[in-house]
Amino acid sequence: MTKPNAALRSSLSCCFSENDDEGITTIGGGASSWRIFTYKELHAATNGFSGDNKLGEGGFGSVYWGKTSDGLQIAVKKLKAMNSKAEMEFAVEVEVLGRVRHKNLLGLRGYCAGTDQRLIVYDFMPNLSLLSHLHGQFAGEMQIDWKRRMKIAIGSAEGLLYLHHTVTPHIIHRDIKTSNVLLDKDFEPLVADFGFAKLILEGVSHLTTRVKGTLGYLATEYVMWGKVSESCDVYSFGILLLEIVTGRKPIEKLPGGVKRTITEWAEPLISNGRFKHLADPKLRGNFDESQLKQAISVTVLCVQSEPEKRPNMKEVVSLLNGHEQKVKVMPMRIKSIKYEEELLAFDQPSDADDHDGGGGHDENNGYGVFSALEGQKMQDPYKHRRDGRIDKNVY
Ligand SMILES: Nc1ncnc2c1ncn2[C@@H]1O[C@H](COP(=O)(O)OP(=O)(O)OP(=O)(O)O)[C@@H](O)[C@H]1O
Ligand SMILES: [Mg+2]
Repeated sequence: MTKPNAALRSSLSCCFSENDDEGITTIGGGASSWRIFTYKELHAATNGFSGDNKLGEGGFGSVYWGKTSDGLQIAVKKLKAMNSKAEMEFAVEVEVLGRVRHKNLLGLRGYCAGTDQRLIVYDFMPNLSLLSHLHGQFAGEMQIDWKRRMKIAIGSAEGLLYLHHTVTPHIIHRDIKTSNVLLDKDFEPLVADFGFAKLILEGVSHLTTRVKGTLGYLATEYVMWGKVSESCDVYSFGILLLEIVTGRKPIEKLPGGVKRTITEWAEPLISNGRFKHLADPKLRGNFDESQLKQAISVTVLCVQSEPEKRPNMKEVVSLLNGHEQKVKVMPMRIKSIKYEEELLAFDQPSDADDHDGGGGHDENNGYGVFSALEGQKMQDPYKHRRDGRIDKNVY
């Protein structure tokens, strides 16, 4: 049986016991089951990790489609390099996945941790990612009509609500974006990728940490000072929602190379009340106008620069479900984050259309992912750690 090494085992304390080769955990939301796979098994299931089976590539490594000997379709995420950063991401992902169970969160099907490889196994999601439908390989097919888009928005919000308010300790995802929202056969969304997640212990309001995540989705206080709280996810969700409604990318490159954020684009339309002009043209006018307004209002609330003014995910879900008819204090303006030039320089355009629909990026181009943005570029009133070590109170 494959066993993770001692350091990994200690960082995965809640997921392992000495003779685990199958896990049934009952933390937070209920039981979730997974098992340990052998490398041989996963090698066979993915046809030797063949290029034909490759679904996409992310910061952690490549993702392959596979089928187990008992016929289960799986997605196998294979760590591209064994280093401490990647091992930590693997450890956090497995730790967090072992804790969560919710219809809108992609759970753990299993993992493989040998001496020189790390792999995570998930259920295969036949409709791939939201990114592939908005900007990638399915963008031309318009499978996500308005109704599906609202279902995706509400489901993703419910997944986040569970992470922020139900599971203990609470979990901040830190990488909410369209490639991390996967779609099952009925287009039910499942939020995935917990490699950057932080567990928030009781009584802790925020943490300071190195900035990770994807530019375009990052809240001001996080990108500037590394201050992390649930409201950072709320901000990212606001951007995701705007993307779902408008079909635009979080950052687009204008002719001449200038980069513009989705909020900068939306700002004048919102402040002039031209909501209909915000809707994705691919919808060809087929959308519910009041739902559109409500969704835009929720975005406006979520992307406010002051984190304390943002709603929490309970309020977001309630607003999106139309339980609160009107947003009480509806700011009519978005104050867009103006990312500094040097930050934008880190960001590579999300050329999902040219790749796999998965927002493919490799280690060299970074695709807007700050895996370790150096602190000296930022003012740092919260004294966040720059030594790469994990903050107190978090994993
Ligand atoms: N369970 C799954 N079912 C189907 N496709 C999946 C699954 N998991 C991942 N994918 C596909 O593989 C792609 C790559 O995923 P991965 O999470 O590695 O990268 P990413 O989301 O683009 O970036 P990041 O590393 O920042 O999360 C996804 O965009 C998605 O299309
Ligand atoms: Mg991902």
